[in-house]
Amino acid sequence: MSAEAVSTREQRQEWKERHIRSNDKFVTDIPKIELHVHIEGTMTPELRWKLAQRNKIPLTVGSERVPLSTLAEIREAYQNIRGRIGATSADGKRNMTFFEAYYGGFDLLQTEEDYFDLAMGYFERVAEMNVRYCEPFFDPQGHTRRGIPIGMVLEGFKRAQIAAEHRLNVRSQWIMCMLRDMSPESAMDQYEAALPYKDMIVGLGLDSDEYERPPSLFDDLFKRAREDGFRLTSHCDFNQKDTHDHIRQVAERLGGTGAERIDHGMNVADQEDLMEVVKSKDMGMTICPCAYIRHASEEAVFPRIRKLFDTGIKIAIASDDPAYMEDNWVLHNLHMVREKCSFKNKDMVQLQRNAVSICWAGDELKKELLDDLNEFEMSFSSQ
Ligand code: HPA
Ligand code: ZN
Repeated sequence: MSAEAVSTREQRQEWKERHIRSNDKFVTDIPKIELHVHIEGTMTPELRWKLAQRNKIPLTVGSERVPLSTLAEIREAYQNIRGRIGATSADGKRNMTFFEAYYGGFDLLQTEEDYFDLAMGYFERVAEMNVRYCEPFFDPQGHTRRGIPIGMVLEGFKRAQIAAEHRLNVRSQWIMCMLRDMSPESAMDQYEAALPYKDMIVGLGLDSDEYERPPSLFDDLFKRAREDGFRLTSHCDFNQKDTHDHIRQVAERLGGTGAERIDHGMNVADQEDLMEVVKSKDMGMTICPCAYIRHASEEAVFPRIRKLFDTGIKIAIASDDPAYMEDNWVLHNLHMVREKCSFKNKDMVQLQRNAVSICWAGDELKKELLDDLNEFEMSFSSQ
């Protein structure tokens, strides 16, 4: 294999097993904050199976619509998801692209109970990883365009959110993402329809297919959202067409003054002046390594992460769409950077401090999260 080749699935699986076997207590036990996870991207094969049965929806894979009739077949289909954004493959007719898997999962969500189960499944899973606070994304248009009322989606999420806080000690606030491959008008309509639920939504984001869809198309919406008190972020996925331009728009102009965070934005590391803008504005970045290494070489990914970190840019590590990315949750993403960026204990703590700093929790909760981190660090150093 040449130095710059993308790893194989088998290799990545080997790394993951090695990380888990290493029983690295610092990584498993550190209190965690997750700031980049699409709740719809947490639909495990087990939940897909349960929802399909409950709602009597036949499952298929690929454009040939090959039927999936057992849980084992769903698991296998998840293993064969190709690439990410807009990816196709020679045998794509019988395999899922990332977006096919992701939006295919939306169709199974039909009742408030389904939304509750989706969110509760995520909270339960990450509680085991000691996630204390998270800001999950959701894509309202992906539900309402199928005729699902926004209230049904958010009532289900809200019940799970409250249960997670009480039963699991996982606190959360939601970020509403607009689909950038839909029109700005549709985004504005959706935004207005969600306003009655403003109390549970802390921020506005932008996701889906970035191809020829610059963030500036949504400027009016982001301005309005800022005036209404929402926090702002936008995806600028790794190595996308025009990504440096898109990053610049997000950093300098979106919503009038630029957004407070960039989701991914790894290509900031390519240009000194972009690094300077992000650093001087004290912007946060959410970085999801296991997502990138499925389509980029290790050499393209980890030195960039290390560079951003060493420059003092506030990066936080997260999972993106864990169910569709080889079952890599925030814990596995942290294990990955621990090894591949040679992060020491103090660096792992710094990543979590970064996350506290760039998250949108209130001051009291931020202090609590920092106190927990300090206590963890001290207890570890005295062992
Ligand atoms: N990129 C863009 N849009 C998305 C993603 C992603 O990884 N996941 C869910 N929506
Ligand atoms: Zn994402």
